[in-house]
Amino acid sequence: MKIGIATCIAIGLGTAIVASIYSTQVQSQSNVAEPVSRFDGKTRRERFTHKGGIDRELSSDTSPAVTGRAAAIPKTAPTEAATGFDNLTNGASEQGPAFESINAGNVMARHSFNDNRFVFEEVEQIADGLGPTYNAQSCRECHQNVVTGGASQVAEHRSGHLNGAQFENSLSGSIVQSRATYPELVEHMNVEDSVSTLRISTNILGDGYVEAISNQTLLAIRDRQPAAMRGTAVMVPVLESDSKARVGRFGWKSQHASLESFAADAYLNEMGITSPLLPDENPAAGQDVQNPSPYDSVADPEDDGVDIGAFADFMRSTKAPPRGPVTPDVIAGEALFNTIGCAICHTPSITTAPVNTSINGGAYTVPAALGNKTIHPYSDYLLHNVGTGDGIPILPTVEYAATANQMRTAPLWALRTRNRLMHDGLSFTLQEAIQRHAGQAAGVTKQYKAMSDAQRAQLITFLNSL
Ligand code: HEC
Ligand code: HEC
Repeated sequence: MKIGIATCIAIGLGTAIVASIYSTQVQSQSNVAEPVSRFDGKTRRERFTHKGGIDRELSSDTSPAVTGRAAAIPKTAPTEAATGFDNLTNGASEQGPAFESINAGNVMARHSFNDNRFVFEEVEQIADGLGPTYNAQSCRECHQNVVTGGASQVAEHRSGHLNGAQFENSLSGSIVQSRATYPELVEHMNVEDSVSTLRISTNILGDGYVEAISNQTLLAIRDRQPAAMRGTAVMVPVLESDSKARVGRFGWKSQHASLESFAADAYLNEMGITSPLLPDENPAAGQDVQNPSPYDSVADPEDDGVDIGAFADFMRSTKAPPRGPVTPDVIAGEALFNTIGCAICHTPSITTAPVNTSINGGAYTVPAALGNKTIHPYSDYLLHNVGTGDGIPILPTVEYAATANQMRTAPLWALRTRNRLMHDGLSFTLQEAIQRHAGQAAGVTKQYKAMSDAQRAQLITFLNSL
């Protein structure tokens, strides 16, 4: 699938240490010059520095901090988003030819849901640009349960250390990739790296709706939260619109706002495949392995952008996770979830921006299938300190320092398909996950503990219906 651009002139990146950025890890050491890309002269830090204020994506908003285009609030009431674990499109792209009829010879990337699903499931090889360091060969390897696009048990490992109060990445970035194409390139955690965490794969089903939530809607949710529990909206760059700022919402730290940006980041950091948005390879075990090198014979960018587009199209066309059966106990459990305050962070319903709203810094327009829809993600997509922070910020910079110990409110849709919970996947029961909530959730956890056994059972029954 990768049509590499073969005409790039290699000038090499020398031996400078570049950080891997999966979800935005740029070089930490401010005294070492960051290498510039031979493709466009940008450093990773520049790509990951958001520019300007966030766009006004809803016309009712009057906040002076936001500028740009805004869509009129529609007069028609929102309708429910499409849901289902059924490999069917939500309407943002056509279903396409029968999935079983698609193969590497006839696939037409960006043509249909089924074609794009094929690209998302495709197993990448060294000839496609896989590696030199990577975590898996296909998006589906980590995003599959119970259908392509769901979550999974696969966790990645991140590490780094503190220099005073400032976090610094491990030698090759904060992700310690678990696989490599050569034994000497397999990355290991450094002895001085005292901060280390696992981060488990998240669900992406329904994320097209999440991308279509306006900046203002997320800020309004934040502003309604009581001060002691108020979330943090993080501003992150949209790579495909020259790093324009938008409110982050994807990943355990809400480190991306756009699915295309996340796809480019994942392609590079999970599979080692470069694309026009992130054209430079990660160093491997601290070594420069940029093509041409004995370790990488595929010219960069290894994907011409078509695969990235197909991943984004696929994710935008997935249906949201469906609810399980709603019994009287489930209804009673949800009432308790609301009363004791779980719903303050785990927001039950959000309406997406109107059809035709320009989002992602102007790079994407909300289509009819995704606009003015109500979703039930049970998340505010904001960051909170609930005492579980993994110590690793979005970026090793002063701006993002506070994100080290904050996590995004985990969306609870599709919760019943997950048996390893929290960012590290180290809570194995719902009870354990709830009891780990401290910090901004301490008051709510106290109320959970004060409930009767019967009430707690109803709450768990409700969670198991999500
Ligand atoms: C080795 C496992 C692995 C592979 C392969 C992988 N991912 Fe992920 N994905 C993850 C993990 C882990 C996270 C959470 C990362 C974090 O926030 O630190 C994630 C998060 C995401 C998210 C954020 C979803 C949300 O709502 O939080 C998107 C989007 C995504 N991946 C897309 C992709 C795409 C597209 C591919 C293929 C190019 C891919 N991933 C390949 C493990 C993987
Ligand atoms: C102050 C905000 C806040 C409140 C209040 C809150 N949560 Fe959470 N919740 C979070 C955050 C943040 C995470 C992710 C933490 C992590 O991964 O380290 C989370 C994670 C979870 C998870 C794990 C989901 C997964 O997929 O791994 C469950 C289950 C959960 N919360 C249920 C609840 C319940 C039930 C309540 C009420 C008793 C509650 N939460 C109250 C913020 C909150």
